[in-house]
Order: sequence, then C-alpha cells, then structure tokens
Amino acid sequence: MSAIPLSSFWSGLTVFTLVLLALVMFPPRPQAETFISLPAPSRQGGLTVAEAIQKRRTIRRFANKPLSQGQVAQLLWAAYGITDPRGLRSAPSAGALYPLDVYLVVGERQVPGLAAGVYHYRPEKHALSPLRDGELRGAVARASLHQTWLAEAPIVLVITGEYRRCQVKYGNRGVRYTLMEAGHVGQNIFLQAEALGLGVGIIGAFDDAALSQTLGLPGAHEPLLVMPVGYK
Ligand SMILES: Cc1cc2nc3c(=O)[nH]c(=O)nc-3n(C[C@H](O)[C@H](O)[C@H](O)COP(=O)(O)O)c2cc1C
Repeated sequence: MSAIPLSSFWSGLTVFTLVLLALVMFPPRPQAETFISLPAPSRQGGLTVAEAIQKRRTIRRFANKPLSQGQVAQLLWAAYGITDPRGLRSAPSAGALYPLDVYLVVGERQVPGLAAGVYHYRPEKHALSPLRDGELRGAVARASLHQTWLAEAPIVLVITGEYRRCQVKYGNRGVRYTLMEAGHVGQNIFLQAEALGLGVGIIGAFDDAALSQTLGLPGAHEPLLVMPVGYK
C-alpha cells in the first residue's frame, strides 16, 4: 500500500473544509411544495337542497366522460372547502379542529389539464398539491376489495382522518368525532354532485394498508371513505 503524500492530504482537507463551510453558510433549501390553483367555486345555482336529497343515490356505473377542472373544484370545495373568513369550512367539525383531509385520484385523460395521479386538496389555498403520478384507479379498486366498478369513474375522492388532531382536545372521543365528520363530508359530496348532474359511489370496504400504500398517504392519515364521482 503506497502512503498518501502530505501535500495532497492537506489540499484534500482544505477542499473538504471549504465544502463544509459553504454548506453551513448556504444550506440547501428543502424543495418547495407545488400547488395547482383551482377555479373559484360557484356559491349559487344548481338544484334546491330538497331536490338534491330526493335524487341522491349510490351510483355504481359511470359514463365514459371526463370531468372539467371546474366540476372537480366545486366538489372539493363542497366537501371540505373554506366558507368563512375565520377558516370555517363546509362541514361541521368538533372544536373546529378539522381532522380530515381530502385526496383526489384522477384517471388518465379524465380531467383536461390535470395529469393522472393523486393530489392532496388544500382548502386554505383552494388548490391541489400533487402527491403521486400515474393511472391508479385500478389499484384503488383492487385495494377496495376488488370493487372494480369504481375504476370506471373519472375521479375518486378519498377522505382520510388524522385522529390526533381531534384527540388533542377530546381524548378518545376524538376518534368518534373524526368518523362523524367524515360522514358530513361524504354527504356534502353526494349533494354537490347531484346539483352538478353527477353521480357518486361510496365505499367503506377496503384494505386500509393497501389503499394507503397505493395513494402514498402520510402514515397518520387513515383512509375512511372512498367516493368515485362521474356522469351517471
Ligand atoms: C359507510 C358506508 C360504507 C359503504 N360501503 C360500500 C361499499 O363498500 N360498497 C358499495 O357498493 N356500497 C357501499 N355503501 C353504499 C350502501 O350500500 C348504500 O348507501 C345503501 O345500499 C343505500 O343506497 P343509497 O345510498 O343509494 O340510498 C356504503 C355506504 C356507507 C354509508
């Protein structure tokens, strides 16, 4: 084994020190989260609430027809969007703690301008944050105990709960409150879809771990409801 000359040892050490110094002075910035702004929701028009309640049914067959970004934005806003400058939302929430999140699964060429993949709805910005790329409706259907009909819908909304956000104030009861809130969001989606002339399915039968893995959900966000939406 040949010995390293002393001069190259010192120059190596100098380079190393300079790199270390540069990293301390100019630390690499964490990659900024990207957001896709959504069209503003409409607050009027459509059916009366009574008409939407009367028409609502669980739909399990969808036409092969894409949805617009406007329709998707309207559904997300109705689901869990901000409706008050204080940050209050479309669904009631115990202690206004908002333990839920809404994820959007978009099929290939199913929403012009939105690539196939998984997106996280960010109510405070009324925007989408991309989470995962690709056609994942088939995988969502397989994780939903092979309810293959859901993969025909152009989009699938997934409501997740993070219990600890509610448990901070309500202890174990926070789990119950989180599940109740998911029901409110689900009904908002049903009624808004009816008002847009669309149909919705609702699925509670799925493999939690397989669905979380398919969507790439953060560990604490437990999937609670899977809701495919499209033309009837
Ligand atoms: C929490 C919950 C879970 C459900 N899970 C499923 C499901 O996994 N698959 C399915 O086809 N329907 C599911 N449904 C839909 C029910 O079967 C449906 O609501 C019921 O038959 C009444 O029909 P309607 O919604 O058209 O009034 C679920 C409904 C709820 C509220």
